[in-house]
Amino acid sequence: MTAANSPLSFRHGEWHIANCSLNKIAAEFKTPLFVYDQRFLENQFRSLREALPDIVDLYYSIKANPNPAIVSRFAACAAGLEIASAAEYEIARKAGAPVERILFAGPGKTLEELEYVLQRGIGELHIESSEELDAIKALDVPVNVSIRFNPAAEASGGAMRMGGKPSQFGFDEEQLPQIVDQVLGAPGLIFRGLHMFAGTQLLDAEVLLSQWSHTVTVARRIAAHVGEPLKTVDLGGGLGIPYFSSETALDLTEVRKGAAVLFGSLEDDPLFSGTRFIVEPGRFLAGPAGVYIARVVSVKHSRGTRFIVLDGGMNHHLAASGNLGQVIKKDYPILNVSRSEDAPREPAVVVGPLCTPLDTLGRRVTLPNTEPGDLIAVMQSGAYGLSASPVGFLSHRLPAEVLIDGSIANLVGERGSFANPLRKFD
Ligand SMILES: Cc1ncc(COP(=O)(O)O)c(C=O)c1O
Repeated sequence: MTAANSPLSFRHGEWHIANCSLNKIAAEFKTPLFVYDQRFLENQFRSLREALPDIVDLYYSIKANPNPAIVSRFAACAAGLEIASAAEYEIARKAGAPVERILFAGPGKTLEELEYVLQRGIGELHIESSEELDAIKALDVPVNVSIRFNPAAEASGGAMRMGGKPSQFGFDEEQLPQIVDQVLGAPGLIFRGLHMFAGTQLLDAEVLLSQWSHTVTVARRIAAHVGEPLKTVDLGGGLGIPYFSSETALDLTEVRKGAAVLFGSLEDDPLFSGTRFIVEPGRFLAGPAGVYIARVVSVKHSRGTRFIVLDGGMNHHLAASGNLGQVIKKDYPILNVSRSEDAPREPAVVVGPLCTPLDTLGRRVTLPNTEPGDLIAVMQSGAYGLSASPVGFLSHRLPAEVLIDGSIANLVGERGSFANPLRKFD
């Protein structure tokens, strides 16, 4: 990744995000911090919106970045919101989303959460287990429900990377007719449709489209089973962004072409008359807009290796350390934003301040001559950053979060203090 496809640019002898100097932002809000470019968030939304036909509604999956300012931006773009907890429900409501545009998915919803959300209203509840179905029935409140399913065996040749595996998410596809019948027979439950989300970080448009196509096939079968079109078919999220030098961005032109063919083929199909489709990405919408910035505390050499030690690390950004479920640890794009774009580079290992070798943000990076006080930026950090990190580990204070609107930098998440490092989210 180069700075060209990130929100960072090198102008007038220094690095900027939108029109704000990173030096000034770091001086004002202190490091470590997350900085998000509002324009980039909106551009990602717009580019995906334009690639999909009108029959598809876009929902933002809040778990990718629950910062209220970011959720509000997407709500203002008329996105729906996909939530996975009662707390995310509150974030969605405060962001201004009407209840009809909120859907609640996720395994392990508690009775307390279900009650909370049903009392206040919800667009759709996506049922993932028999216990959840029983709990909703017992609550006896009319509610729109959809059924999440875990796809069966490989559906569409080599490009299909899903299916057939055991999963805690949703019901197995084989069980669908029986679960649908139970929902149809339950007073108060209003059956809306199906939801399938098989995996995250898809960079291959062909794989994405074949997953969508499989969901459409299952939806057609279930519509025939119930004798009428489904109201909604949720195709999931999972659209990827490139993190590593070996990866290339999801080709939205291919997505657009494939989506036009797929949804075009349903236009005259009576089993899809009036059906709305949902795509609910998190990473794709929020990831590219965010940068994690930490300051160099020391530069040390150990047996021929240069270690650059930062004031923040995996406690704020677990994903960049490769410890958020990655099988092979690869380096996020990392820049020294105190040095010019074309300064000669040497190998370095970039680490955080925690007392564990797991706290390594860059294993094989190349950086210019770097000194204590320099600012290091980890790009592609807008999704699964702060909220997916072990912030309490070693009790460092929380990073600030700053949202940039052109030339204006707004603090949207406070740092913790030394006395109370874990700022409460409200
Ligand atoms: C139900 C559901 N929808 C959407 C998402 C968002 O996924 P992504 O960020 O890969 O788009 C997730 C992620 O775990 C999810 O579980």
